[in-house]
Amino acid sequence: MYAAPQDPAREELMWICNAWYVAAWTHEIEPGRIQARTVIDQPLALYRSSTGGIVALEDRCCHRFAPLSLGRLEGDDLRCMYHGLKFAPDGRCIEIPGQKLIPQSACVRRYPAEVRGSWVWVWMGEPAQADAAKIPTTIALDDAGWRLKSGQLDYDAHYLLIDDNLLDLSHLSFVHEKTIGMDMPQWADLRPRMTPLERGLRFQRWHTDHPPRGFMKKLGERLDVWTAYDFLFPGVFLQRTGFYPPGTAEQSGGQAPAVEPLFHRLDEQAVTPMAERRSRYFYAAGARSGDLDAENLERLYAVTERAFHEDKTLIEAQQKLIDREPERRMLPTSLDAGPTQFRKMVEGLMSAAP
Ligand code: FES
Ligand SMILES: [Fe+2]
Repeated sequence: MYAAPQDPAREELMWICNAWYVAAWTHEIEPGRIQARTVIDQPLALYRSSTGGIVALEDRCCHRFAPLSLGRLEGDDLRCMYHGLKFAPDGRCIEIPGQKLIPQSACVRRYPAEVRGSWVWVWMGEPAQADAAKIPTTIALDDAGWRLKSGQLDYDAHYLLIDDNLLDLSHLSFVHEKTIGMDMPQWADLRPRMTPLERGLRFQRWHTDHPPRGFMKKLGERLDVWTAYDFLFPGVFLQRTGFYPPGTAEQSGGQAPAVEPLFHRLDEQAVTPMAERRSRYFYAAGARSGDLDAENLERLYAVTERAFHEDKTLIEAQQKLIDREPERRMLPTSLDAGPTQFRKMVEGLMSAAP
């Protein structure tokens, strides 16, 4: 999976096109401006139409391949600013300066694009197969029930290495021993319950005897923590964490708690492959608005972001070692159940691709 493809035909096979990918935060696509993005090696030009929807066109003019993201918006249309071809939001060329006839082949590819929650999703495959109902449900950053803060990080690494990291949270006890995994050997010692989902996996677990830190100390000296997340292709991580009084795990018989938590944390993240060794990691962290004031959100977010930099340092270094000797085999352990199962699913999607 990591080996660099030798020929262009294999390069094509590397990506799963028929999938929704997060291309941007909605607030990044400002009215009147064109944003250049790359998703699975495809250059995209994104902009907002007058109705507020997102237009996603191939960022390559069909004339002489100038980037359309360097062009100009004229109402809902986009004019290439090299020689002036003008394109409608559906990708059709509607004007060629000094030429009456517009050939049918004068068009750029349009990608289905949707706003859900606070993310802009693009469908990179067959437009006819794009089903917006399949886009995962997420909480918007301005949802009144939650207090959230967002960010993003670019990685020089294959997206599946970042997925591996999110599919196996045992690393919290080690990579994050000074941040989000502090005093929590349970992350590595206890395995979560794993359930298959369509294009993903669900992980659930109780941690008991959790020592809260900082502003969370007011909740009690020790807490039971219920962590549940869905991880969906290509790298969407949707996690809820409930903090409970000691004894709740036992009362729940190890199952999902039926009672309201003392503190309800939310983490929503998405990994988007840009190129073979380049990925973008979008994330939001926070909690129910009643559980967290603005100041404590800053604290929670600062620790979380520090942890994400810890992951980035480690994974980019791991990628370099993999690339040194791509044929070397890794040693499987029982920690790898999630990553292994997810990769099998990805391979299945890849071989099912047309
Ligand atoms: S390259 Fe776009 S108009 Fe010529
Ligand atoms: Fe991590």
